[in-house]
Amino acid sequence: MDIKLKIKTMVETTRDIPAMPQIWIKIREMTQHLNISATMIANEILKDQGMTSRILKAANSATYAGYNQKIATVTNAIVLLGFNEVRNIIVGLAVFNMLEKLKSNKRFNFKEFWLHSLATGVAARMLAEHVQYKNIEEAFVAGLLHDVGKLVVSQLMPKEYDEVMLRIENGMDDLSAENEVFHADHQVIGQWLAERWHLPDVLIRACSLHHRDGMEKRQKSRFRIVDIVSIANDMAHLIFSSDKSDRNQNAHQCQTKALSLLTISKDNWSRIVRNLAENVRKEIDEYNLSESDFESLLTTFEDDDQETHQTEKLYQEMNHELNERVQELSVLNDFSAALLAVETLEQVQNLLLESIYKGIAFNRVLFFTPEKKGFLVVSAGFGADVSKLIGNTSLEIEKKGVIVNCFFEQKVTNVLNAASHLFSEVIAQQELNILRCASFACVPLTANEKTLGVIVVDNHISSDPVPDQRLSAVVTFCNQASLVLKRLVKSS
Ligand SMILES: [Fe+2]
Ligand SMILES: [Fe+2]
Repeated sequence: MDIKLKIKTMVETTRDIPAMPQIWIKIREMTQHLNISATMIANEILKDQGMTSRILKAANSATYAGYNQKIATVTNAIVLLGFNEVRNIIVGLAVFNMLEKLKSNKRFNFKEFWLHSLATGVAARMLAEHVQYKNIEEAFVAGLLHDVGKLVVSQLMPKEYDEVMLRIENGMDDLSAENEVFHADHQVIGQWLAERWHLPDVLIRACSLHHRDGMEKRQKSRFRIVDIVSIANDMAHLIFSSDKSDRNQNAHQCQTKALSLLTISKDNWSRIVRNLAENVRKEIDEYNLSESDFESLLTTFEDDDQETHQTEKLYQEMNHELNERVQELSVLNDFSAALLAVETLEQVQNLLLESIYKGIAFNRVLFFTPEKKGFLVVSAGFGADVSKLIGNTSLEIEKKGVIVNCFFEQKVTNVLNAASHLFSEVIAQQELNILRCASFACVPLTANEKTLGVIVVDNHISSDPVPDQRLSAVVTFCNQASLVLKRLVKSS
């Protein structure tokens, strides 16, 4: 007998392949009837605890529960999801259990296969969500199932499957290797199995066509699932590929394919790939698979992921910094313009403090001036809790400390981790009580060599020092104010 026919007969008849569970058969039959009600299906589902929780979870997921309403009953969940999607969830669980039962073959790297299938399912679900495919769970199951032909044939014909593995190890692609040995590839073998299990047509198509890119132009909607699974399959290969140069080239091809088949932009495609690893991990938890089993496989893409994240973080930080500078310059510009119109010292001080607060984004900006004899008083400020401090908080000049020192010596001071300076006499306890911040900096405001007051900017709970760049921006603002203050001090 021709080997292809032999495999087909085996797939169709052998008892080595587990049958689909009763609940699937029942639900499949029920949903084929037009007059079936959600309650009748719910009653069936409620008999299976795992099934019940999956259905409720899907109905309460962000995709379906688009409004702030909790779906608490299976009947409501079925109404919301629709019969099709309910069937998909059930078939997904059933297929999952069957794949588990098939795993005992030694020759086959089941873990790798399983992780690839799961990643393809998760990627298909993400793509389906993005392109607003009508049945999200259907896409997941299609992805989960797409390579089932490989698993089956490795079980049914272990010796011959070794031949296939040998060819693949020597550089042949899997479809050619399978065709050489079996005169059939895993797509058609998967199709036979899906047919035996009476799976929906859409899943049969996903199994039988997922490697046929750019086939004759087909009915778009009918084959959308094939495009989704085909791209999801590439994505799953991509994140587990350990060869970086290979990966870059494949990433480009895969992204081009996503654009042409599903019109997914480059940015969206990258976002989906980036989130894929995390979502696979969640799915592993969902099925109570042991993560340690997949650890070595998962790290392959995590390494790369971290690298991408780091680069991205760096760009984000640079961008953030740049935006801060732009903001500073724009506020400084407005500040300079506004200074031309001010007429009193108080107006300059207030304008200065407000500009520093808005332009350089500190948690608090305080102004200490010698308003009472022997004391520096908080006379103005912006930010958290400042109103409580203004007018009734003062530092005794006698007791010294950083702020007093800054006032008399006109010295810009950056205090890192204020509390740790507590006993070094650099910072007075009184200052700590007033500021209650971990790090701060003081800048003297001067005019004609006379100190008018001290500006204190505070990093609040952060024990990092005020960054040099931000501190020098404060100094720039103060210098600008000094020019006007010189004129006003002279005339007062
Ligand atoms: Fe495949
Ligand atoms: Fe695959």
